[in-house]
Amino acid sequence: MSIDWQRLGFQYLDTNGHVCHVWRDGRWDAGEFVQEPYLRLHIAATALHYGQACFEGLKAFCRRDGEIRLFRPLDNARRMAATARRLCIPEVPEELFLDAVRRVIRANLEFVPPYGTGGSLYVRPLLIGSGPQIGVSPATEYAFLVLVTPVGAYYKGGLTPVRATVLDQYDRTAPLGVGNVKVAGNYAAGLEPHLIAQRQGFAIELYLDAREHRYVDEFGTSNLIGISRDGAYVTPRSDSILPSITNHGLQELARERGMDVQVRPVLFEELRSFAEVAACGTAVVITPVNEIVRGGEVIRIGPATGCGPVLQSLYERYTAIQVGDAEDVFGWTVAI
Ligand code: PLP
Ligand code: COI
Repeated sequence: MSIDWQRLGFQYLDTNGHVCHVWRDGRWDAGEFVQEPYLRLHIAATALHYGQACFEGLKAFCRRDGEIRLFRPLDNARRMAATARRLCIPEVPEELFLDAVRRVIRANLEFVPPYGTGGSLYVRPLLIGSGPQIGVSPATEYAFLVLVTPVGAYYKGGLTPVRATVLDQYDRTAPLGVGNVKVAGNYAAGLEPHLIAQRQGFAIELYLDAREHRYVDEFGTSNLIGISRDGAYVTPRSDSILPSITNHGLQELARERGMDVQVRPVLFEELRSFAEVAACGTAVVITPVNEIVRGGEVIRIGPATGCGPVLQSLYERYTAIQVGDAEDVFGWTVAI
């Protein structure tokens, strides 16, 4: 195995294997480690036909002293449980979630990017209806799978700003739909607009509230955060967006430095008044957004190149806690 750690992007690489637990007859089994990256799945599995499928995303980091620690895994376990309830999937207990994550990492230690490379081991828990149904109803068997793969930056890298677009002919979620949970189908719904945005030269799509297209919801794979001209941390409140663990953490860091944190409806027009805007999430960390285009309107935000100072400093503190260079005062990191 030879991996060029410095050049890692956000692509899947095969590893030593994944962990698989099966739920049947009302309980989760003890699980097994599976080497090959293929599943044997029933042709009538509900995940395939009716989208009874959800996932999570979290990261493990190698520290300066070589220790590997997970970042906020129990928050992902809780969010996956909330998604599972919405999809009528049996919840994965927190201890089982954490055990499976630890087990797959311990079996793949050589895939954890070394300290200082900027990379991390991305952990992808996946929960699917594996049992057959032909009428629309919940499966009677489920699989909880956890894979890992080493990753670097999701977009160009580090704090390089990207351009975003609003495509008014698309919504990602419905007002009383499933935008607030991490359902696999949400991402399928975002593929067509994502490819259109990419063809038009945008890295990222911003969605507005599906009812009126007046308020900001979130990006296709991340929340939106803004720094107002008077230095407040502003992020949309909406029932249709995913509660981002990264956003939650950054709010804590903003409060820690005495910033005013505002979680509230954000009108699209208000974006014009922000000093800094970014996408935030596990995969994208903090990615500055310096331009948002909607139809003929172009909103330019922050410095033309590079990142604004507030987001830069939140990014530095956040990533320092992740890799153990700053004290974990919030208790966010967990041993493997
Ligand atoms: N919003 C969406 C739609 C996402 O897919 C993600 C990624 O998980 C996020 C927001 C960010 O959430 P988190 O910070 O928990 O990764
Ligand atoms: C994450 O940030 O972990 C995500 O799940 C977003 C995306 C890669 C689907």
